[in-house]
Amino acid sequence: MCGIVGATAQRDITPILLEGLRRLEYRGYDSAGVAVLNPGDGIQRVRAVGKVAELESALQATPVNGTLGIAHTRWATHGKPAERNAHPHISNGLAVVHNGIIENHAPLRKRLQDLGFEFTSETDTEVVAHLLAHHYADSANVLDAFRATLADIHGAYALAVIHESEPHTLYCSRMGSPLVIGEGCGEHYLASDPLALLQVTDRFRYLEEGDYARVTREQCEIWDRQHNSASRPVARYEHAAHSLDKGEYRHFMLKEIFEQPQAISDTLAGTLGDDHVLTAVLGPEAETRLADIANIHIVACGTSYHAGLVARYWIEEQASIPCQVEVASEYRYRSAVVPANTLLITISQSGETADTLAALRYAKDQGYLATLAICNVAGSSLVREADWRLLTHAGPEIGVASTKAFTTQLVALLWLTTALAQTRGRTEYVARNVDALRALPAQVEAVLSLEPAITELAQRFANKHHALFLGRGPHYPIAMEGALKLKEISYIHAEAYAAGELKHGPLALVDEDMPVVSVAPSDSLLEKLRSNLEEVRARGGQLINFACETIEPSGDASVQTVGLPWVEECVSPVLYTLPLQLLSYHVALVKGTDVDKPRNLAKSVTVE
Ligand code: G6P
Repeated sequence: MCGIVGATAQRDITPILLEGLRRLEYRGYDSAGVAVLNPGDGIQRVRAVGKVAELESALQATPVNGTLGIAHTRWATHGKPAERNAHPHISNGLAVVHNGIIENHAPLRKRLQDLGFEFTSETDTEVVAHLLAHHYADSANVLDAFRATLADIHGAYALAVIHESEPHTLYCSRMGSPLVIGEGCGEHYLASDPLALLQVTDRFRYLEEGDYARVTREQCEIWDRQHNSASRPVARYEHAAHSLDKGEYRHFMLKEIFEQPQAISDTLAGTLGDDHVLTAVLGPEAETRLADIANIHIVACGTSYHAGLVARYWIEEQASIPCQVEVASEYRYRSAVVPANTLLITISQSGETADTLAALRYAKDQGYLATLAICNVAGSSLVREADWRLLTHAGPEIGVASTKAFTTQLVALLWLTTALAQTRGRTEYVARNVDALRALPAQVEAVLSLEPAITELAQRFANKHHALFLGRGPHYPIAMEGALKLKEISYIHAEAYAAGELKHGPLALVDEDMPVVSVAPSDSLLEKLRSNLEEVRARGGQLINFACETIEPSGDASVQTVGLPWVEECVSPVLYTLPLQLLSYHVALVKGTDVDKPRNLAKSVTVE
């Protein structure tokens, strides 16, 4: 979604704002803008439609500089991408940037229009700017006006504000959208994601829901939603060591695909004993309560949801615990029945996805035994609000299409399954999973070496508009993930089916124009899957098989098979994900799409 950056310093902060926007661009890239203030001068604002590079060109034509400023990269919700809708929005000597949705913007707009305010955009954000100006006219005090504005607005927001009357002060607030305050030396910064500020600091205060703050160069005052002064500790950002550039790779997505061996090793570090898992990583309370868990509900969105679907197969088979998996946007609005001793698991790369976060908050009053967040961002809202946490250590993921975050989620979920099996004395699974997890990084490396064969296969999609993905058992959600990847970055319509469902409808679509991709490891369902694939071949379908090289013979011209090494059944969903990631990446190259920033999508969806 949108990205926010702000800074107050003695030096020109424009380069800090621009670098912050570049780092946040993966979150939203419809338009971008900055507003800066120098004591004595008014607010100078520059905005541009398109990527941050467009804003940089606009700034070359109209340079601005100042010691206080805010900036924004937008993912349109209200009002199409256009310069007039780009942030910052200004009103009577103040400027505002906003991430989220102001739900009561329509009545507020009407009220402000009746008061004589003129709107120049279709955004909900401009309402905040005028509302603040309206309250400031009554009080001549920015803090009071900001408080009155926050009291009037409903919805989700992270807000940053500057006002000409206070040329060194940033005001900010968060409710439902993330916001951090960065600590510098005689400087302070704001951002919707710490990644935006890693060039200037690795020390952050994380605002909590409803917090608002007044931030000057030297001081940072924070209040909670009851207006009590609040202390939010400074935390060091854990991912600071990770490189945030593409290095030798053409795209972040490819870099992140090839980072998976390391990401998996990092996620497993400190979690495996000789032939058992070390449950202390979950924290003392969780460790002692693992045996109490009688049911599991998993809630997530997008790719993270697919990780949950795979885990259901593992948890029910290996730990015999009933497990339900649901997308967060549905779960949060229905009345789920919560049996006694149910654990709620939320899975998220970012830990800021609005629906997942709302689901966690809703679940808090539903009588769960506990809530567990599986997440890649240690300081995220999801991690801070869950009772227990299990961190994936994928490092920052910049490509919008999730890759290493997904496989590390699978690894964390298999580890959790093993911990649950361990508490139930299912030692046969425990020792096997531990060995398989330990061997996994090297096997991932081996499968990634199949890239040249997959690059060739991708050419077959050059003129295709549709594709089917098939899998069975835990590889059905892997097929779903493969289809999602292809849709996201190559814009080819792709559907995944449990292979046994093919004959109940989708078989009607199969002809020589329909590529059918099958995920066919040598597991107990292989024979069943083979029969399903025969149904495709008999109808002239073009089959692309990802199959175990020791089992699947090649020979039939209508079938292209990429052979993967034999692996333990429990980790094969992780390994069979990799060729599907590479396939979608190379198809996107063939199609010439913007791989890292596919149209209409955003990395972190912080609005409902
Ligand atoms: C967006 C991203 C997806 C991601 C989903 C859930 O749609 O584009 O890649 O899977 O959000 O995000 P989360 O951060 O909660 O895993």
